[in-house]
Amino acid sequence: MHQYFFIKTYGCQMNEYDSEKLNDLLEFNGFKASNNFEDSDIAILNTCHIREKASEKLYSDLGRLSIFKENKKKIGKNMQIIVTGCVAQAEGDEIIKRNKNVDYILGPQNFHKLPGVLKNKKTQKVHSEFSYKQKFDSLVPSAKKNVSKLVTIQEGCDKFCSFCVVPYTRGAEFSRPVEQIFAEIKHLSNNGAKEVTLLGQNVSSYNSEIFEDGVKKKVSLGYLCSIITKINGLKRIRYLTSHPNDIDQNLINEHKENSKMMPFLHLPVQAGSNKILKNMNRKHTREFYLRLIKKIKENVADMAFSSDFIVGYPEETDSDFQETLDLIEKVKFASSYSFKYSARPGTPASIKKIQVSEEVSNKRLEKIQAVLNQYQTQFNLSFLNKTVEVLFSGVGRKNNQFVGRTPHLQPVHVTSNLNIIGKLLKVKLLRLTAFSFHGKLVE
Ligand code: 5AD
Ligand code: SF4
Repeated sequence: MHQYFFIKTYGCQMNEYDSEKLNDLLEFNGFKASNNFEDSDIAILNTCHIREKASEKLYSDLGRLSIFKENKKKIGKNMQIIVTGCVAQAEGDEIIKRNKNVDYILGPQNFHKLPGVLKNKKTQKVHSEFSYKQKFDSLVPSAKKNVSKLVTIQEGCDKFCSFCVVPYTRGAEFSRPVEQIFAEIKHLSNNGAKEVTLLGQNVSSYNSEIFEDGVKKKVSLGYLCSIITKINGLKRIRYLTSHPNDIDQNLINEHKENSKMMPFLHLPVQAGSNKILKNMNRKHTREFYLRLIKKIKENVADMAFSSDFIVGYPEETDSDFQETLDLIEKVKFASSYSFKYSARPGTPASIKKIQVSEEVSNKRLEKIQAVLNQYQTQFNLSFLNKTVEVLFSGVGRKNNQFVGRTPHLQPVHVTSNLNIIGKLLKVKLLRLTAFSFHGKLVE
């Protein structure tokens, strides 16, 4: 009899990638995917630790699952509960101690051990080693066919921004070998993928080594992009997330010369005040960031930018916040994410004396989101009545409706009698509703 599993994914795209790979691995080992926890023998929670809210979600889900498991026991059935991901790494021992119904804890570099672990009788165990190489070496080719795919190429972070848990939950930076990444993307392309988003907590610090004419050579992200470009079926390359200090000329040149490189860069700045940037240990100034944006635009005229922002960071005053708004006005981001600062256990920022009040943080968040939305709308409006290339990846809610993305990642809806999924087609953008376009196919 088959055992059924269901994975719930919290947080970022790196977790989405991990969940898909875990799914592939379990199916490869004879387990079957289910659509919900209720019908599963194995419940997997792939968790996120980045902000308090994300962690809290795990604990409330765990509470409900625990009761469900106990009810199942009463009717003679079992369900194993597995916690993976960043909360597993950070709080694994506490989770096990606090909840007797949790069977295994597997940190982000340990989920590949699950098929083996499930064969053990001994439960209530924590696996939290940093074993990147074994993890990536254990993965199996993806079975799911999609037009747009995520591929992790780098994991971990050596930057230690004062607010961030990533260096502790994902560990030190590790880059996968070029050949391994190439083989994975080639397989995806053979299965219909047209676009790939290369993932890493610090993707622009990707570095690896290759042998050229018997000589060892260091290579970076720009080189990797130039290599995967050779895969014919692949039409678009994206990558995320970049740190401003790691964008090198090679990468900029690749954007300039390679039409598969999409003109959209997620480049978090977090804040616009030099005092706050210094406190955050970002190791760059606002001037450096603005110069970098200018330089990239001089090289790649149609490049658009998105960013992450944190408001209410310890010691952030009204005038610091104004500097963030001023930076936003200067860059005019195409889209962005903004968050209220969340004090995370074990980070240097969490022990700062002067924390900003909830009330002030809420007001700043409201303000920054209104300003960011305004620039996003302004950016989108500049595309109305223009014709752009759209890569179609799915169906819309209405009959014969298809959904795709522009080079700048804007969603576009069109109607078509033919199935256009997987096609790169010219579309005239006619209407903008909230943050997505409605258009018509040209020819
Ligand atoms: N509080 C709020 N936002 C955070 N981020 C990371 N750590 C925190 C925190 N402690 C945000 C940053 C980062 C994004 C992924 O999450 O903006 O770029
Ligand atoms: Fe966290 Fe900073 Fe590393 Fe990004 S660069 S993962 S914000 S420590």
